[in-house]
Amino acid sequence: MAPRRNTTNGRGVQAEDTKICVVMVGLPARGKSYIAQKAQRYLQWLSIDAKVFNVGNYRRTNAPQPSADFFDTGNAEGERSRRAAAEAAISDMIGWYRQGGTVGILDATNSTKDRRKWVWDKCAAEGIEVLFVESKCDDEDLIMANVRDVKTTSPDYVGQDPDEAMLDFRNRIKMYEKVYKTIDGDGDESHYTYLKILDVGSQVVINRIQDYLQSRVVYYLMNLHIRPRSVWLSRHGESMYNLDGRIGGDAQLSPRGEQYARKLPELVRQSVGGDRPLTVWTSTLKRTIATARFLPDDYNQLQWKALDELDAGLCDGMTYQEIKDIYPEDFVARDEDKYNYRYRGGESYRDVVIRLEPIIMELERSEDILIVTHQAILRCIYAYFMKKDHTKSPWMNVPLHCLIKLTPRAYGTDEERYVADIPAVSTWRGKGSTAKHEDPVAAA
Ligand code: ATP
Ligand code: F6P
Repeated sequence: MAPRRNTTNGRGVQAEDTKICVVMVGLPARGKSYIAQKAQRYLQWLSIDAKVFNVGNYRRTNAPQPSADFFDTGNAEGERSRRAAAEAAISDMIGWYRQGGTVGILDATNSTKDRRKWVWDKCAAEGIEVLFVESKCDDEDLIMANVRDVKTTSPDYVGQDPDEAMLDFRNRIKMYEKVYKTIDGDGDESHYTYLKILDVGSQVVINRIQDYLQSRVVYYLMNLHIRPRSVWLSRHGESMYNLDGRIGGDAQLSPRGEQYARKLPELVRQSVGGDRPLTVWTSTLKRTIATARFLPDDYNQLQWKALDELDAGLCDGMTYQEIKDIYPEDFVARDEDKYNYRYRGGESYRDVVIRLEPIIMELERSEDILIVTHQAILRCIYAYFMKKDHTKSPWMNVPLHCLIKLTPRAYGTDEERYVADIPAVSTWRGKGSTAKHEDPVAAA
C-alpha cells in the first residue's frame, strides 16, 4: 500500500489520500444514526466528502416491516437477508470510495466480533482505515425514550400502533443483546482503532487513533450531547456602513440599528418563552457589541475574534461598485465562485468556515447560546445547522433586524424567525449586481 500523506494546502489541513470508514457499533436505539448523521454534516460542512451508508435502509428493500423474530440469529432467513443488506451497503460504499469519497460511515449495529472483522477485512483490502465508533448506554429510561421518539415513527412501523411498535422494538433489542459484544470487551480487539462513547459521553474510551482526520472526527464526537437546547442567531443592528453600502469596517450602529439593539431583549424573551438567561457571544467589532448591550445583566457575554466579519482585505470599506471599478477581475471571480474566492489580503468563505470550527465545537458542547454576528459568519453557522450546500450558502439572504432560533432535533433542526418591526436596508446582493441596496430574490 502506498504511504499516506497529510498536507496543508492553504485551505486548512487535509489528509489528501486518507480514506476512513467510520463503523458504528452498538445495540439498537443507542443513537448510532444520530451520531452518524452529525458526523456526516460536520465533515461536509468542512468540505470533506462524507456519506452515511445505513444498512437498515438496504434491509428494508427485502424486508420492509419485519417483526422482532426476524432479528433472531436462529432465524436463517432473517440472518441471510441481514447479511445481504450489509454486503450491499459495503459494496456501494466501496464503489463510492473508488469515485473519490473520503469518509464513509457504515451505520449498522456491527454488534459481533465476526461482523467487525468482516468489515475491517473488506476495508483493509481497499486501503481504507477503519474507525469503530461504539455507543454503549445502559440507561433504560433513555433507551425507551429514544424508542418512543424515533423508532415508533420509523418506516419499520408505518401504520402500526405505537405501543405495539414499542414492545416489538424492545424485543428486537433483546435479540441483539443475545449476541452483542462491546468492542474490545474481551481484550482481543485492541488492534482496532476505536472510540467508545459510554452513557452519552459521560465517559469515552479511545484507542489507537492514527491521524489528523480521525482525531478531528473523534474530538467532534466526544463533544456531542443530547440535552435539549437552542441556538439563537442575529446579525448586528443596521450600521452606518450598511446605509452606505460599504463592506467590512468597524462602524457604529445607525439610529435604526440602535432601535434594534433596544428591541433585542424583548425579541429574545419572546422566543425563549420565559426569563431563562442565555449566554451571548458577539464578535469583537463595535456593531455586534453595541447590539448586545441592552441584554439583561445575568446573560454572560463573551467576545470572539473568530466571529468577526469575513475580512475583505484591500476591499475593506468599499462599496461593491468601487470593488468592480478598481478590481474588475476580482469582482467577476468572486461571483463565479463566491465560496472559494479570497479577497486580496483577506479571506474567503472557505477560510471563514475553517476559523469557525472551534466555534462549532464549542456550540456542540454548550447549551443555550445567542450569537450576535455578521452576515457572512451567520451564513456559515446557519449552513452548518441547516445542512446548506456551500455553493449556495454565500448567496443566502439573512436579513437585518431578525432573530433566528434554531433547535436541533434527533434528525434535523427546527427553525423559527422573530422579525423586529424596525426597517433596515437590505445588504443582500445578487450575482453581478453592484446595487447599494437590493431586494433579495426568492431563491436566495
Ligand atoms: P438502530 O440500531 O435501530 O438504527 P440507533 O442506535 O441508530 O438505532 P438512533 O436512531 O440514532 O439509534 O436513535 C436516536 C436517538 O438516540 C435520539 O433520540 C438521540 O437523542 C439519542 N442519542 C443520541 N446519541 C446518543 C447516545 N450517545 N446514547 C444514547 N442515545 C443517544
Ligand atoms: O454588507 C455587510 C457585510 O457584513 C460586509 O461587511 C461583508 O463583507 C458582507 O456583508 C458579506 O456578504 P457578501 O459575502 O455577500 O459580500
